[in-house]
This record gives sequence, structure tokens and C-alpha cells, in this order.
Amino acid sequence: MKNIVQPLLEDYQIGDLKLKNRVVMASLTRGRATNAGLVPTPLMARYYAQRASAGLILSEGTWVSAKSIGFIHVPGIYTAEQIEGWKLVTKAVHDNGGLIFSQLGHIGAASHPDFFDGELPAGPSAINPRTHSFTPQGFKETPTPRELTVAEIKQTIQDYKQAAKNAKEAGFDGVEIHAQMGMLIPQFLSLATNHRTDDYGGSIENRARIIFEILDVILEVWNSTRVAIKFTPVAYSHVGIVTPDEETIPMFQYILKKLNHYNLAYLHIVGPAEDLTGTPVEVLQDNYFSHFRHHYSGRLMANLGFTQESANAILKEGTADLVSFGTPFIANPDLVMRFKYNLPLSEINRDTLYTGDENGYTDYPEAVYNGNSSQSEEAN
Ligand SMILES: Cc1cc2nc3c(=O)[nH]c(=O)nc-3n(C[C@H](O)[C@H](O)[C@H](O)COP(=O)(O)O)c2cc1C
Repeated sequence: MKNIVQPLLEDYQIGDLKLKNRVVMASLTRGRATNAGLVPTPLMARYYAQRASAGLILSEGTWVSAKSIGFIHVPGIYTAEQIEGWKLVTKAVHDNGGLIFSQLGHIGAASHPDFFDGELPAGPSAINPRTHSFTPQGFKETPTPRELTVAEIKQTIQDYKQAAKNAKEAGFDGVEIHAQMGMLIPQFLSLATNHRTDDYGGSIENRARIIFEILDVILEVWNSTRVAIKFTPVAYSHVGIVTPDEETIPMFQYILKKLNHYNLAYLHIVGPAEDLTGTPVEVLQDNYFSHFRHHYSGRLMANLGFTQESANAILKEGTADLVSFGTPFIANPDLVMRFKYNLPLSEINRDTLYTGDENGYTDYPEAVYNGNSSQSEEAN
């Protein structure tokens, strides 16, 4: 990579926002809102500020309402206190020259009664997603949820709108809808977890309806180029029964065709974590991102397992416009500088990923750059 022009380090325009590089920090749930109100803290502001050299930061998945919760110590964006907490974060990032979007999430059925005073969580249908919820008493199996009523779905959509408004008030630069694996939106998309017979179930159009209803209300609050959406079209393993099915490919073709008219900030696509051979989405095995590139005419952000080299390559070949990095940003707050000077990356401590304090959160050191772009020493 030495002395080679790196597309990752080029600036990039999204509407009226100028990203100083194409290295995006993907959302990372870190479980540091360790207070009863799930309010972002000064420690979180420090953590995000340390990573402000990214072209864009995506906040950790953030609850849009008290009903959307399902993982311990994850912050919300539905109370006045939470908005005030997020103001600390956005100010810290802006003071350090960065940009930050709020990732708006709802976990739907993948939750646990421990979060709702013993009441069942709700999802598209009364079908257990067969996954786990990280409760205050540790990881617990999800129960069979309650089916959301249509009135509750409409309320949920309004919750996203209010959260989007709150994100604006809190000083965010935009919002990303969290439609990643494990969340409410993919539960609606999936044939396994959506057996509804009303306007939100059955056909591809009906199962995808909630996405566009959420987008439409958010676009009453934000300009479209400040709104994005993140999907994991091919989630496997630890995510329970929401896995690709025979309608996944036509479902995403339908979604992308509609999204082509939205002029969003970007479409964020997570790659396959496993070999797709023998699965209903096997045809995506060798042309994954180019498939989405082909069907989506707007800006595309690629994610999952990218390295400096593979990210520069996908940008260079034009298959993506931006690349997001999750795990690498945990132990490398100065990831962009490490790419710039070809410095080695630090390893993460898995024990401190989801809970704790500053340990394994804000104490990962920056690399020491000694003027030689292929060598460095770690500061301790
Ligand atoms: C500790 C951790 C927490 C995560 N939390 C979120 C989250 O809140 N929202 C989300 O969309 N993805 C989340 N992800 C997924 C990442 O955003 C990203 O998609 C994934 O790590 C793959 O990118 P990578 O290979 O660069 O790490 C999380 C990943 C990790 C490792």
C-alpha cells in the first residue's frame, strides 16, 4: 500500500455534507450508557471524539422508544435527558472536526420481558425469533413475543419520526435506520418471523411496507441526503430464524428499486459473514456488492471484514462509494491515520466489548508515527 494513492483517504460529498475521507465508523453497541435513564455520558462523548477523524461516525444503535429496547446499557433518543446526553457527544465530535449520524433502532421481538416489567416484547407475529437478549441478568433466550397491532405499528413509525426529530435537536448530522440483522425491520421482511395477513404481511410489498412508512415520516424531518439505511441481507448464524429465504433476493430488488427514488445519503450493506453456498442466496457468493451496486443507483456503503487493502480496492473498482469499519475502530481510534501511514492495527479486547467503563473503551492508545510510513510503535 506504500506510496499508493488510497481512495479511502479522498474526501466525499453527500448532498451538502463533505466527508473528509471515505473511512466510515460503523455502529458499535458498547453498552456504556450505564444509568437507569439510558442517557449518553461524558465518557461516551470522549470515546466518539477520539474517533472523529473518520469521514463519518455512525452512532451505536440507539432506541427510538422505551418499547424498542432489548440489550443492556444501550442508550435511547426518546427522552429530554437522552437528547441532552447526545448533545455532549455531537459537540465533542464536531469540536474535533467530525460528522456523526444517529443510528435509530428497534429490536422488536428479539427482546425479553426483563426489559418490560414482565410483559412480553412484541414483533410482527407471535413467533419466537430464537435468539438471545442481553438482559441485566445476562444473555437470555427470547420468548415467543406478542403480535404488534396495526395501531402499534403506526405508533412505532411515529416513534421513529420523533427519534429523528430528537436526533436533529441533539445536533446529529443525519440518521441511519438500523435495519440490520436482529432488529424489528428484518423481522418484518423475513418469511420466518412475519406471518401477518394484513397490510404488513404476505407479499413482498406488504412485508417491506414498514421501511417506506418509516422513511416517509423521517423525510418530513430531515432532508433525504441526511437519511440512510443499513441492511444485512444475508444474516446467518447467531441471529436465530431470521436468515435469508427464497424471497430475500426479490425482496431486496424490490426495496432497492423503490429506494432508487429516495436520494438517500447512502445505502449501507453488510456483506456475507459466511459462505453462501447451498443457501437460498447462493448466487450472491461471487458478486455480492456488485449485485447491490447493479440494483441501486445511489451512494453505496460496503461493510464487513474490510481491510485497508480490500476497502481501497472496492472503492477503486467503483463497486462502493464508502466503506465502513466496525471492529477496527474499537482498538484503533486513529484508524484513518493508521491507514494513511500504513501503521499496524491494534487488537481488540473482547471482554470489554459490551459493558464496563473506560477500560477497553477510551483507553486504546493512538499509534506513534515516527515518520516512517511503514513502521510504528504502539504508545502504551
Ligand atoms: C461490538 C459490536 C457492536 C455492534 N453494534 C452494532 C450496532 O449497534 N448497530 C449496527 O448496525 N451494527 C452493529 N455492529 C455491527 C458493525 O456495525 C459492523 O456491521 C460489523 O462489525 C462488521 O464490520 P467489521 O467487519 O468492520 O467489524 C456491531 C459490531 C460489533 C463488533
